[in-house]
Amino acid sequence: MFVNLKILRYNPEKDKRPHWDTHKVECEPGDRVLDLLNHVKWYVDPTLTYRRSCAHGVCGSDAMLISGRNRLACKILVRDLTKDGGTITVEPIRGLRVERDLLVDMEPFFESYRAVLPFFINDEAPPAGERLQSPEDRERFDQGTKCILCAACTTSCPIFWVNGRYLGPAAIVQAHRFIFDSRDHGTERRLNILNQNTGVWRCRTAYNCTEACPREIPVTQLIEEVKRAVMYQQV
Ligand code: SF4
Ligand code: F3S
Ligand code: FES
Repeated sequence: MFVNLKILRYNPEKDKRPHWDTHKVECEPGDRVLDLLNHVKWYVDPTLTYRRSCAHGVCGSDAMLISGRNRLACKILVRDLTKDGGTITVEPIRGLRVERDLLVDMEPFFESYRAVLPFFINDEAPPAGERLQSPEDRERFDQGTKCILCAACTTSCPIFWVNGRYLGPAAIVQAHRFIFDSRDHGTERRLNILNQNTGVWRCRTAYNCTEACPREIPVTQLIEEVKRAVMYQQV
């Protein structure tokens, strides 16, 4: 089969504004969009620029706006987007500065991630063995551990588009992972950070983040749990 792969291109050294390039690409229905991009880069235009690493939905580096929705290029299959002769559009994720083509500056995203203290905090001397936890307590933060920091959620959030200072759903998911960990002692610090005007109260439950998450994390639900924790100052 053939598809028209329509890619939004932008080279700040040459272009005043982004423009579309379309390539007719031969492919199989089971090919991934990343295979199509690789074909263009390797055999047609080596200047095409995008991030990818693992190619198996693990590293989180190739989130893109594909046919109108944020997805991982290495996960989404051609047959789930179009039929023979159809068109697939690929654009950079929104709300972050485009450095070139599909490559965006991820630094503001990781700055928000670091702001919520995404690491284990517990100054007590560790026990001789492990810091034990019941299966029920482990379950409370299980969803957040699946996050691969791809930014598909944050860059689909309309609040983030208009105010880049909003920490965003990905950072809140990461905060949730530690706030609800019974072994962690940093809860108060994180709840105070999330109570500021860049924190959870910016969320208007638009649900775009939940729909965009390639790991099927119930992002909005986790944000609501964090909102309750911030409101009552307890978990
Ligand atoms: Fe990506 Fe989902 Fe994590 Fe957001 S919550 S960064 S969409 S894996
Ligand atoms: Fe944005 Fe998700 Fe809230 S899309 S408004 S963070 S529910
Ligand atoms: Fe690693 Fe797609 S390349 S998640």
